Amino acid sequence: MKRWFLLCLLVLCEPALAATTPPAAAIATAHPLATEAGHEILAAGGNAFDAAVAITATLAVVEPTGSGLGGGGFWLLHRAKNGYQTMLDGRERAPLAAKRDMYLDAKGEVIPNLSVDGALAAGIPGIPAGIAHLAAHYGKLPLRKTLAPAIRHARNGFAISESYRRMAQFRLEALRASTSAASIFLHENDVPPLGHLLKQPDLADTLEAIAKQGAAGFYNGALADKLIKGVRRAGGIWTHKDLTSYRLSERQPLQGTYRGIRITSAAPPSSGGIALISALNILAGYDLKALEPVARAHLITEALRRAYRDRAIYLGDPDQVAVPVARLTAPLYADGLRASLRTDRATPSNTLPGNATLSAGNDTTHFSVLDKQGNRVAATLSINFPFGSGFVAPGTGVLLNDEMDDFSAKPGVPNVYGLVGGEANAIAPGKRPLSSMSPTFLESKNGVAILGTPGGSRIISMVLLSTLDFAAGNNPASWVGLKRFHHQFLPDVIQHEPGTFSAEQAASLTQLGHTLKEVTDPYGNMQAILWDRKNNKVKAASDPRGEGTATVR
Ligand code: DON
Repeated sequence: MKRWFLLCLLVLCEPALAATTPPAAAIATAHPLATEAGHEILAAGGNAFDAAVAITATLAVVEPTGSGLGGGGFWLLHRAKNGYQTMLDGRERAPLAAKRDMYLDAKGEVIPNLSVDGALAAGIPGIPAGIAHLAAHYGKLPLRKTLAPAIRHARNGFAISESYRRMAQFRLEALRASTSAASIFLHENDVPPLGHLLKQPDLADTLEAIAKQGAAGFYNGALADKLIKGVRRAGGIWTHKDLTSYRLSERQPLQGTYRGIRITSAAPPSSGGIALISALNILAGYDLKALEPVARAHLITEALRRAYRDRAIYLGDPDQVAVPVARLTAPLYADGLRASLRTDRATPSNTLPGNATLSAGNDTTHFSVLDKQGNRVAATLSINFPFGSGFVAPGTGVLLNDEMDDFSAKPGVPNVYGLVGGEANAIAPGKRPLSSMSPTFLESKNGVAILGTPGGSRIISMVLLSTLDFAAGNNPASWVGLKRFHHQFLPDVIQHEPGTFSAEQAASLTQLGHTLKEVTDPYGNMQAILWDRKNNKVKAASDPRGEGTATVR
């Protein structure tokens, strides 16, 4: 009897033990060729980290609007073998000759577009260092193998899409201003026709130099010479020392919990993890699932308002300013923020102390990878605006970023996107600009999620909404397809996609004291994976707003 009881306890009465390795691998990226490149490397015996190298490099070729060797980003890693988690911080750094007021005129006014277009807008790239570091410390395959798909696409060319054409039109003037950029990314100095085969032989050579020499193929030698010469001729301030002294940083990811879900997300110099965890800590005080949509949207808005207020005041490069991470992510601190929150009316932002940092870019990319061992990568990478600064140093094929615009050019004064920043994010030599990029893992007893998205300051609210959808038990297709809304403290408005709220819901939110603003186009391009450990299934989804693919194999 006793033995029977024990057996029952072990076999019948216990829930099935969660699977320890996934039944399939999954990759979700913003471009079909990048998703395929990742699978090609997994099939060749590579792990998720090798696949991430291949995807990062392929996106640099086939999605030049979003990221590239001339940009930066964050790779969040989970090693299945020992559960080790880390964030590779390949964020751009300000050149050593950068000055706090370098984008201001003699009167102290911000010079429009100087931090957006051309060589002076570019920070020192971190993606080449990220690729080399990933391969050397986490991958199994040599760069010669993992960079092969990217080199192939750069040499043979790929057909450009409608979204490429839209972005090229948007950045036409900046691209035309750089002869090298125009000769690569335009056709007869104009937006190329749909299906135009874009070949990038110089970029293929640059990738080959990295395949042979690792990071030194980019930061030293002949390529570095071309970068410095090109940038300086075009009015930039880079020096060889900027390139040779660039170092990738490994940072401990931030962790929080929300209703039994463990959140692992980006550490500073991203604001993502802090703002996400802080907003979730505030929301943990309410039973969101039991609320009707208006009350729920109101609380989410109020949580975001407070999290973004703190972002504006306290956050910057942790190597140069003291960021109070522990305090801002503490549940006790959130209890204090919640105390000022009223369920029956909006709190006007101007009644809270502080000013604003609103970072709304237009491009960037995210990808998610899970391999069959359970290794994971969530990576958000950027050159900031579509086609970055629009500048290519002759002979390199490398489109440079305009991530310097993520600094506050002048504390308190809005930049071209209406962005205002504080002291913590002022420009300084070698400093990393504050980011919103938020590659994230979510873990509950039932499953693991890998997700992230581009979208400037709205990245954090998108990841938050999807986290709540994961908590509600929904699937990746639902997370990426959710109608989105956003609040970032200032401007004091709820931005939302068309169709997020019904007319009655919008009226009720207005009644509560909110101002609603419909954005003209849908936003974001989320790439997500779920390993449902309870049912031992893997699911993946690519945002329907983009042209990416998500495949499980
Ligand atoms: O790091 C950041 O926060 C920005 N440079 C990201 C820009 C971005 O996501 C643009 N996307 N649509």
